[in-house]
Amino acid sequence: MNHTPIILSIESSCDDTSAAVMSGKRVLSNVVAGQAIHEKFGGVVPELASRAHQSNIVPVVSEALRQAGIKSTDLDAIAFTQGPGLMGSLHVGTAFAKSMALTLAKPLIGVNHMEAHVMAHFIENTSDSNVPGTPFLCLTVSGGHTQLVSVKEDYQLKIIGQTLDDAAGEAFDKSAKVLELPYPGGPQVDKLAKMGDPKRFKFAAPQLNHYQFSFSGLKTSLLYFLQKEVANDPDFIQKNMNDICASFQHTIISYLLKVTEKAAAENGFSQIGLAGGVSANSELRMRFQEMCEKNKWRSFIPPFEYCTDNAAMIGISAFYKWERKDFLPLNAAPLTRLNIDLSN
Ligand code: KG4
Ligand code: ZN
Repeated sequence: MNHTPIILSIESSCDDTSAAVMSGKRVLSNVVAGQAIHEKFGGVVPELASRAHQSNIVPVVSEALRQAGIKSTDLDAIAFTQGPGLMGSLHVGTAFAKSMALTLAKPLIGVNHMEAHVMAHFIENTSDSNVPGTPFLCLTVSGGHTQLVSVKEDYQLKIIGQTLDDAAGEAFDKSAKVLELPYPGGPQVDKLAKMGDPKRFKFAAPQLNHYQFSFSGLKTSLLYFLQKEVANDPDFIQKNMNDICASFQHTIISYLLKVTEKAAAENGFSQIGLAGGVSANSELRMRFQEMCEKNKWRSFIPPFEYCTDNAAMIGISAFYKWERKDFLPLNAAPLTRLNIDLSN
């Protein structure tokens, strides 16, 4: 019988420092330290993010090992996020993972952050975990990316569509900023939208363009709409906040699902997943599941802690790389623009 590897994984691509210990496809621990410092700036400040990673990395890794009941000498490999992400942030995780691999004389595994969001679906914490088979289509919606990714039988990933400009999460965050809601805006818009009328205001969604997405026009249409209304009534936003959030959110989600449904139907996928931080959105979760039921497709959404940035998703990707003996040399460097298709 093959030995089940114990892998330590580290995620530091943006503003969360995270470490996980995996036994094969099972999560033994998954520790995440967020960085509240960015809230008062209304967005992630790269320089502050890398400093916070420097402070957090040792305590977060120690806590992950402690919670897993694993000594560093029990580890079979060290995995880390190689990209895409912020250079200063990626540097911290990369240097730390390399020094651990060097000290312990264990293999080093570099993981693509966007690939990891998709692979989070394959975490199997229990023998009856509901994981998809392949081929599988995943809609990844995060603060920095919006992608439709296919997973083939051999677990190789391919992007079949992505955003040409802003990400879906960015559309949420930027619209929330215009509405003077606190950062990050997505959860705020979600909360207020629950009390609003999604049909009250109309925003023009982009024309379908194969399986590509575009969100910058939508953001501008909200901005112009608000400027016009506020010119007539300075209290327009406050009076109509819930309906604006509900209508804008409804437009984003209808558009995301329309492209996903087209891509799945035209390419014969019957197992569809949702990944990334925006998958926490309540309307998206509900309507995604409805869309899958209507088409008789199986739908998958990983538990919330594996949807937002976390190291367990790096660990599951690393497990598949371990099986392929896909290791990195110790001169590996972070890559801010690492692409899924080129990382395999
Ligand atoms: O994947 P993630 O945690 O970080 C990366 O960007 O990699 O995603 C964060 C994004 C932010 O844009 C945030 O506003 C959005 O996910 N988000 C939401 C919700 N929760 C988080 N967007 C809409 N509704 C939510 N409930
Ligand atoms: Zn992410």
